[in-house]
Amino acid sequence: MEQERGTFGSKFGAIAAIAGSAVGLGNIWKFPYVAGENGGAAFLLIYIGITLLISIPVLLAEFTIGRRGKSNAYRSFINVAPHKAWGAVGILELIGAVLVLSFYCVIAGWSLEYIVQSCAGGFEGMTQAQMDTQFNDFVASGWRPIVWMAAFLVINGFVLGLGVTKGIERCSKFMIPALFCILVMLAGVNLWQPGFKEGAAFILKPNWSAVTSQTIIKALGQSFFSLSIGMAAMLTYGSYIKRQESLVSVSVIVSFATVLMAVLAGLAIFPSVFTYHVPVTSGPDLVFKTLPPLFAQLPGGYVISILFFVLLFFAALTTSLSIMESLVAFFTEELHIKRISALGICFAIIFVCSTLCALSQMPDSSITIAGMSLFDWTDTFSSNYVLPLAGLLCVVLVGWFVPKTTVEHELTSSGRYSLFVFKFVLFMMRYVCPIVIMFMCINGRIH
Ligand code: PHE
Repeated sequence: MEQERGTFGSKFGAIAAIAGSAVGLGNIWKFPYVAGENGGAAFLLIYIGITLLISIPVLLAEFTIGRRGKSNAYRSFINVAPHKAWGAVGILELIGAVLVLSFYCVIAGWSLEYIVQSCAGGFEGMTQAQMDTQFNDFVASGWRPIVWMAAFLVINGFVLGLGVTKGIERCSKFMIPALFCILVMLAGVNLWQPGFKEGAAFILKPNWSAVTSQTIIKALGQSFFSLSIGMAAMLTYGSYIKRQESLVSVSVIVSFATVLMAVLAGLAIFPSVFTYHVPVTSGPDLVFKTLPPLFAQLPGGYVISILFFVLLFFAALTTSLSIMESLVAFFTEELHIKRISALGICFAIIFVCSTLCALSQMPDSSITIAGMSLFDWTDTFSSNYVLPLAGLLCVVLVGWFVPKTTVEHELTSSGRYSLFVFKFVLFMMRYVCPIVIMFMCINGRIH
């Protein structure tokens, strides 16, 4: 059954949805920490430079394939590439999408549990050690994280069931501004904390002596992950962007939105960490163990706690919608089935994968790959291998194999926008991006 493809109804809607995909857990718990550890504002400047020069051209390559191919991640490659074999890159991206979703949904489920616990005032008067035990018990219970993960999948299914415009776009148009407001409020509350200056300096004071060659690789990895590159999400969203919209301006706006949100997240988080002199950490430990008891001690801590976990949930939801949509589009268009049936298939696949990820975190679990729990492996493998490889193949395809006039049409929206920008982007896609990405793969972990 052929179904009409969705499109984002307005530029703001497109930007909100794409920014929704980009702004996720990576921005909230990873970026501020990585920035702080690697030179603060010095890292920030390097990050912005790298995003403009390298990540945006790669993102544009994905958008070009999606908008030109006008289909799901797999079919778009076949539609724009000179040979069918390129479809394999689309499949690689879809596999990446499944891997990212597998651990992402588990974490999103935790945020739901924490919203409920915050509402019940559960973190008040807790010590760091008690919080540690409580979180470990929660994860070790096995079934509780699975129930929350399933609830999260149902929420995704509900939004996606409404379609691209009425579901994803409408939801993002509400959630992204809401996310921004919550971040501003949380950062604002922290202005009065004794540790605010230290917290702000952690991410905003330039410290060039902390910058090494590894910093550049870290900035690149963080920037790629943050812009959801190489996992089918941006490619699929690209296929929903209207012809007249400038892909370049959408990419630049979204990139700056992600940096802004990440800095605000840092300002919302680190003042408390410095006020109470707890060790600076990142990832699940920071968000689910360190922060809750600290927030509970703030004036209005009850509300702050709830707001913070709602923020986390919104960030995770708008991201998971994009990844899930790439799978839904694939199944709908390739199997010629209804959207609702495609959703059912996605739900089943992700439920099984996420359940295994959740179970792999129980003590003594034997669900491991390459010496890591499945949970850690899905994160590491997708970020370190799928992401750079798919990103590389996208720029090579668009830079070298798609006719130049086609790329020009897409990047200038058929002559509406600057030819100079197109020439610059094409140069970066052809020469600079492939070399830099290969260098990054050879020189170590990127995420
Ligand atoms: N950009 C998301 C984040 O920062 C992660 C992501 C990666 C989403 C790849 C989709 C695809 O959390």
